[in-house]
Amino acid sequence: MDKSRNPLIVANWKMNNGISDSLKFVASFSSELKVTGRIEVVLCPPFTSLYSTSIAISETHYKLGAQNLHWEDAGAYTGDISSLFLKEIGCSYVIVGHSERRHVFNEPDEWLKKKVVAAQKSEIIPIFCVGEKLEERENKKTWDVIEHQLKAGLSMFERGKTPLAIAYEPVWAIGTGKNATASQAQEVHSQIRDWVGAHFDRALSDEARILYGGSVNPSNSAEIMKQKDIDGFLVGGASLDPKKFADIVRSGF
Ligand code: PGA
Repeated sequence: MDKSRNPLIVANWKMNNGISDSLKFVASFSSELKVTGRIEVVLCPPFTSLYSTSIAISETHYKLGAQNLHWEDAGAYTGDISSLFLKEIGCSYVIVGHSERRHVFNEPDEWLKKKVVAAQKSEIIPIFCVGEKLEERENKKTWDVIEHQLKAGLSMFERGKTPLAIAYEPVWAIGTGKNATASQAQEVHSQIRDWVGAHFDRALSDEARILYGGSVNPSNSAEIMKQKDIDGFLVGGASLDPKKFADIVRSGF
């Protein structure tokens, strides 16, 4: 595969895999697949499994990510977790603005922008998620929606502080078994890359990893991964099965 960017493949376990299941996953996944230097594999367990997962992967090349964060360092924010805590526990990545956070928990752009800043402040790489709903795609509003989400959420992204990772996840493809076709995904990824070039600079647009998410599985991953501007995946459902997730990771080699 002629791409200079290191593939980035992220497991988003959502509200699955408590401590014992996450340990079972790591044991079986690491016997399934040995990850070498070039490809980055990130596991994003729920908060309560972060610590045990962090210990379990300490002798591997896998990295740890969180699914969310609060933008303040500490304070009266019942139920929330700051970037300092995530750093302390060993997170290298954090998902920001997942569609479930945007649409189920109604997180506004303003919060997401502050979360990106907080993650960068702790040198945790934000994986910033964007994606249109079905009616927006049908009304030919896909790019308008995504451009708005990028502008709002990345307006304070500080170039040079952490790498940039963006996940394109069409809302209609998440957990539905209905993935975007490789060419639908590539079209949006190339627009996102152009946008990064125009808003930051060419070098950042060359380096930025743009992931696809939405019903990725072992039978569609290789075709999607071949696309020029697709640098990896954010995987939900299929990341809960060590064998399936290993097969998806192999499509990044
Ligand atoms: P899915 O979820 O792979 O189950 O569609 C992707 C995601 O929500 O990140």
